[in-house]
Amino acid sequence: MTNEAIIQLKDIDVTFHNKGQTVEAVKKVSLTVERGDIYGVVGYSGAGKSTLVRVINRLQRPTAGSVEVSGQDILALNPRELRTARTKIGMIFQHFNLMASRTIADNVGYPLKGRLARDERKKKVAHLLDLVGLSEKAEDYPAQLSGGQKQRVAIARALANDPEILISDEATSALDPKTTSSILELLKRLNKELGLTVVLITHEMEAVKEICNKVAVMEAGEIIERGDLVTIFSRPEKPLTQDFINTATQINQALEKIFRQAATLNLSESQQLVQLQYVGASTDAPLITELYKRYGVVSNILYGNVEILQDTPLGNLIVVMSGEPDKLAAAWQYCQDAGINITHLNPNDSEVA
Ligand SMILES: Nc1ncnc2c1ncn2[C@@H]1O[C@H](COP(=O)(O)OP(=O)(O)OP(=O)(O)O)[C@@H](O)[C@H]1O
Ligand SMILES: [Mg+2]
Repeated sequence: MTNEAIIQLKDIDVTFHNKGQTVEAVKKVSLTVERGDIYGVVGYSGAGKSTLVRVINRLQRPTAGSVEVSGQDILALNPRELRTARTKIGMIFQHFNLMASRTIADNVGYPLKGRLARDERKKKVAHLLDLVGLSEKAEDYPAQLSGGQKQRVAIARALANDPEILISDEATSALDPKTTSSILELLKRLNKELGLTVVLITHEMEAVKEICNKVAVMEAGEIIERGDLVTIFSRPEKPLTQDFINTATQINQALEKIFRQAATLNLSESQQLVQLQYVGASTDAPLITELYKRYGVVSNILYGNVEILQDTPLGNLIVVMSGEPDKLAAAWQYCQDAGINITHLNPNDSEVA
């Protein structure tokens, strides 16, 4: 792994003026993507994700800030230089934007028109279709393909000019979960085999979890949290990040059930409902035994789950801890010292449910 910055956004502002209204879509955002990253940008609708990534290839000129891609100052390029630079930045979208009246092969070869001779183009298109697993569909038309297949065509087309970067803006949002996984797997494979750097915009942490090595969380035009995937998943600092993660790891669904039964939980003074998040091989059993042996704290597991992120196990437990207040406090401290992220869950907190 090299640490070469391939995309460097510094202090980016994008402000829109519309009918006397001012929208600060992106506010003072800096972002460094290194060569070979699959960098996830996650956030709810309107957070500014699309606006931010459109700055990378100057589809959107920022109001302020600097943009460097592969060592080039993108904002200083003349139109011809910009066209060349853009060929090295492929893009795919939720709507595949294929040309309905052209065959799959023609769609994929379209960006190569005037760049390669006919024969070479044919060869290149065949190679690209092979890469995305659609060789048999070369002479079909877009309408004959499924959504997942159409997205594969869009990916092949985006790769026609051998880009170094692929920007995926909600490319899987219109697809079912299984098809989404297969597209994400394809992106991962292209990242590995071609060394392609991927910027993956999504509103689903689930997608980020599957393939990204880094993630940034956007809210109201700002990046509120960022880091490598395992760190963010194991030690999220912002409630919004935690919420995205809880959805991706099915914790929110579990919490909903638990909170619905909160009345039956009937927590006493000496009981606490907590969530434990931990990284690495340390599993739930030794921890819970330890809390009992050391402090006499009994933990009743309501929900448990282990995810593998970047080859690292990440555990999540929802437990009711019972014990004397001072013992509970000591157990709490023990967890924190052991590098376990422990948070109190309030069954009356309707916001989470
Ligand atoms: N061309 C434009 N003119 C005016 N306002 C715009 C323009 N493009 C985006 N905006 C505004 O900027 C904000 C961020 O929009 P953006 O499309 O970047 O969000 P997003 O995170 O990509 O959302 P989504 O998940 O819905 O795609 C929104 O408030 C949007 O209305
Ligand atoms: Mg968008």
